[in-house]
Amino acid sequence: MLRTADCGSLRETDIDSTQTIVGWVDRRRDHGGIIFIDLRDRSGLVQVVLNPELSSQAYQVAEQLRSEWVIQIKGTVRRRPEGSENPGMETGSVEVIAEEATVLNPSLTPPFYIAEDAGADESLRLRYRYLDLRRPPMLRNLTLRHKTVKYIRDFLDAQGFLEIETPILIKSTPEGARDFLVPSRLQPGSFYALPQSPQQLKQLLMVSGIEKYFQIARCFRDEDLRADRQLEFTQLDLEMSFVDEEDILSLTEELYTGLIESVSPEKKLTKPFYRLTYDESMSSYGSDKPDLRFGLKMTDVSDLATETEFRVFLSTVERGGIIKGFVVPQQASYTSSVMRELEDTAKEAGAGGLSHIRFRGSGPIKDMSEEEILYSAGLRMPSEWSHRLAERMGANHGDLILLMAGQAKQVNAWLSLMRSHVAQRLELADPDALAFAFITEFPLFDWNEDAKRWDSSHHPFTSPADGQEEMLYGDDLGSVKSKAYDMVCNGSELASGSIRIHNRKLQEKIFSILGYDAEETASRFGQILEAFEYGAPPHGGIAPGIDRLVAILTGNTSIREVIAFPKTQSGADPLFDSPAPVAQAQLDELSIRISD
Ligand code: AMO
Repeated sequence: MLRTADCGSLRETDIDSTQTIVGWVDRRRDHGGIIFIDLRDRSGLVQVVLNPELSSQAYQVAEQLRSEWVIQIKGTVRRRPEGSENPGMETGSVEVIAEEATVLNPSLTPPFYIAEDAGADESLRLRYRYLDLRRPPMLRNLTLRHKTVKYIRDFLDAQGFLEIETPILIKSTPEGARDFLVPSRLQPGSFYALPQSPQQLKQLLMVSGIEKYFQIARCFRDEDLRADRQLEFTQLDLEMSFVDEEDILSLTEELYTGLIESVSPEKKLTKPFYRLTYDESMSSYGSDKPDLRFGLKMTDVSDLATETEFRVFLSTVERGGIIKGFVVPQQASYTSSVMRELEDTAKEAGAGGLSHIRFRGSGPIKDMSEEEILYSAGLRMPSEWSHRLAERMGANHGDLILLMAGQAKQVNAWLSLMRSHVAQRLELADPDALAFAFITEFPLFDWNEDAKRWDSSHHPFTSPADGQEEMLYGDDLGSVKSKAYDMVCNGSELASGSIRIHNRKLQEKIFSILGYDAEETASRFGQILEAFEYGAPPHGGIAPGIDRLVAILTGNTSIREVIAFPKTQSGADPLFDSPAPVAQAQLDELSIRISD
């Protein structure tokens, strides 16, 4: 070994020992005759003193050192002189007096600071990712990711799960995104698809009798990138036989509770996890991934709204729409500029506008006078009506009510955005809190208006709810519920899963509703349909995204911060400069011609 100790490990107990340490020059300070270096390795920093009177060799080496040079120091650990201790540094009570210094490798000047804050834009950080990863916050992120995955492996191993790898070169398995295709050289014109998830493979493993499977699985989806989406990402993929929904949810809750208490004990975790049906979640929060760190619950007041003469409300309800809103506690005194900002936010989201009612003053709702109630344009009503509205929505004196009108789907989306916006403005979401929730009883299908067809709201392998199979043969497919569930946390979807179909006939019926003809069904899904005929056990599973979880635990909004080598928003890798053209010879081998 080139060293006897790690830089960040040296303490008072090491005083007077001789040590050899290695690392990168974090900082070099020349104090007129004596040079100080903060030497950094993965474990942390330690101060090295290079005094020409004690070692002229070491001092001469130190004179040429620059940031990020890799060096080796042999020296004695000493207590720092009184007054020069640094309580901000773990090694701050000691320093190493250099006796020998060796340059292991010089470095060019890095394009940004190797510090807590790089002070550089992301494309530069990604271009030099190997330097970016030297920064302490990036090292902390990767370390927490490692601990997370290790905890998961140990927990599931103790529960009797087997970790099994599944192929990366497979055939398309639908998860709602575009496939990445890999051309076959041996069978020109044929392609593998990279797995959008190992969904069918894990189900086949249940048919194989594995009973409890998991994998830290890489998934590939050619979709538009966002802060919480990458082209390739990692799932904890999990499947079990002979289980119902409750078995999967309680196992996941136990795993996540133990995991967070172990790797991020400083987080305020709400226990037990919230449970909401999809319908409850949509009705109270306008979203199937609500941030439950704060309230701002929504109420449908369409019936009360039609008692007004407000044209917008009346015509909306006439056209089958709804009026819905939420109470912003103690914000009746918002200035008109804040109200304008809220209206602008609503309009940017695509809403026609935002109505409001403010209850000023203090005292019980029923005593609120006409003068204490202020309305947005067009909404003025007798105070008796406003008392009823306030009572229904749970508003009090000092509160502000926001209302929006439109078709239910849109109103929910707009209000959900307004809810987040208001929570952000009022700082209602505690950044250290983790509010996990399971959302259950999702609809089995979603109507795809553009394509005029039914899509699976999870994926086609999801079982309908008990007793609803018959409904698949009726004409109210939008009402069929499923055995699908999501796990959400702080407004982000962290996991998704379901109890699966394990019966060929039922699975074929789902494919036919989704618009696959018999030939397509056979060519795309023949393998799993056939397997179902060889004693497929009842089974179900879940797949939590690892990147999103680690991002939340490390307080990052972008999952790129917790992935060692991520892609940019446009799907590029600035370090390897990919995607990139390939040589004509390679294309020829694959029988591929690029069209202009
Ligand atoms: P689903 O497609 O919902 O379900 O994905 C499960 C979880 O994976 C994460 N995730 C992503 N993370 C980063 N980038 C992406 N592009 C991305 N897409 C998804 C999310 C999401 O909740 N086979 C099913 C699971 C099952 O039914 O067992 C599936 O893949 O955290």
